[in-house]
Amino acid sequence: MARLRLAGVTALLAASAAAAQDSGRDTALRAAGVCARCHVNAVLEWDLSAHARVGNACSGCHGASRGHVLDERNTVKPDRIPRGDAIAGLCATCHAIGCPKTRSTESCPSCHHVHALVDPRKPVGKPAESDAPAPRFTEAMRAGNEAVARKDWAAAVREFRGAYAIRQDAAAYRKLAFSLRRLYPEIPGFRAASKEVHPELGLPLEVKVTGTKIRMLLVAGGEIDLGDDSVASLRPAHTVAVEPFYIARDPFDAASWRDAMNRMEDLNRAVPGGGFRLPTEAELASAWSDPRLSRASAEWSSSLFWPYPYDAADGREDRASSENRVRLVAQSRSWSRWSGGATSTAQFRPVRTPPPILLPKTSERFRKRTP
Ligand code: HEC
Ligand code: HEC
Ligand code: HEC
Ligand code: HEC
Repeated sequence: MARLRLAGVTALLAASAAAAQDSGRDTALRAAGVCARCHVNAVLEWDLSAHARVGNACSGCHGASRGHVLDERNTVKPDRIPRGDAIAGLCATCHAIGCPKTRSTESCPSCHHVHALVDPRKPVGKPAESDAPAPRFTEAMRAGNEAVARKDWAAAVREFRGAYAIRQDAAAYRKLAFSLRRLYPEIPGFRAASKEVHPELGLPLEVKVTGTKIRMLLVAGGEIDLGDDSVASLRPAHTVAVEPFYIARDPFDAASWRDAMNRMEDLNRAVPGGGFRLPTEAELASAWSDPRLSRASAEWSSSLFWPYPYDAADGREDRASSENRVRLVAQSRSWSRWSGGATSTAQFRPVRTPPPILLPKTSERFRKRTP
């Protein structure tokens, strides 16, 4: 599908952010419901349309998609994703006569973007940078922060969305993601086990896995130091960026790495949405640095026992490989990395990445496509 030229959407959104008093927008946002948790970009597009104003929300075209909502990895598809010629058929379920303007009964998306309904061939506005002055960005950020202070999450989402539309700024994105997570606090498969929420991520600090006794703690991630230049086998000392993740508070016993993997699969079958896995070496090191967690004497990571520097993308996270895996082994004050083979024992803790906020990915994908 042709992604809207973001500059255009951005200009339009900037205009709508200026008229942000419109409380009908909050209602529209609520109508987008749980989909807005993850599909920030689709919601931005749809929010511009007459459909948002009349309440023809995501489920009107994609179905309630309960299975998909529960599954953060999109292994369960939405109920309906009409493509190509089938799209006109979908439109015709409500617009029975086709296009009242052109009498056309087909090719609706060639003139109406499926979400924003604007003509995708026309530039919708000037690039945001040139016509959206910095004061409007600053104003929207200020209003957003005030809404956060009042715990008015819908208003915060509206303001930060406006700010992000004016300028694709990392701080605006983080605050938008934070406010979205507060507005839609449910995480499939989890129940919050503490009222405390991470001040930047907007995620509960402790959760319970539904239908089990497993409690998980949020590890905020960030930059973690691995390696040691004074030990030949641990060179080089390096820094790895770790995304936020949840990890089981208490470790489980496993007879082997394979056994730990099988137990993880059982857990994924038992909990809808699942997505449980072993921590990578970097994640486990990050968790072991967290004073809230007590270390087992040895724990499995998902990573192959390859030399440093750690790089999640170089093949060492290959699940199918039969090479040895990294175990972290506790020592008096710190720990070391050991190789673990088929018969090695260690404990393990399930890890799960919180549901994504899809905005940066989609806009990146979009930028690549747009010259
Ligand atoms: C917990 C996060 C999450 C929620 C909630 C969610 N989705 Fe998705 N959805 C995803 C992911 C992840 C993908 C695939 C990645 C991507 O968009 O690039 C996806 C893909 C889609 C696609 C494209 C599917 C394809 O394979 O082409 C549609 C359509 C969609 N979602 C609609 C919806 C609708 C409608 C709702 C609300 C009823 C919804 N989603 C709720 C995470 C979510
Ligand atoms: C008027 C009908 C309609 C509504 C309302 C609608 N969609 Fe869509 N959506 C479509 C169609 C049709 C496609 C497939 C377009 C294509 O593949 O050419 C699509 C594609 C998508 C995709 C995959 C492509 C992409 O943009 O990443 C996602 C995700 C999505 N919709 C999410 C949503 C969400 C979330 C909402 C509610 C805010 C929503 N849609 C509302 C018709 C609709
Ligand atoms: C679930 C019903 C429903 C579906 C499905 C639906 N629409 Fe609509 N649409 C409406 C309603 C209701 C309105 C507002 C009243 C009106 O203008 O007819 C509307 C308005 C519009 C408008 C007028 C926009 C404006 O600015 O006034 C366009 C264009 C449009 N729809 C195109 C589409 C296209 C294209 C599709 C398929 C991708 C589609 N609609 C699917 C219900 C629907
Ligand atoms: C060749 C381009 C083209 C195609 C194809 C097309 N439309 Fe339109 N449509 C327009 C234009 C131009 C307008 C008037 C300006 C506007 O509202 O965007 C319009 C207006 C509309 C309106 C609003 C009418 C009103 O009274 O304001 C609806 C609803 C609509 N189209 C639905 C559809 C549907 C459904 C399809 C597919 C069956 C479709 N259109 C196909 C160009 C097209």
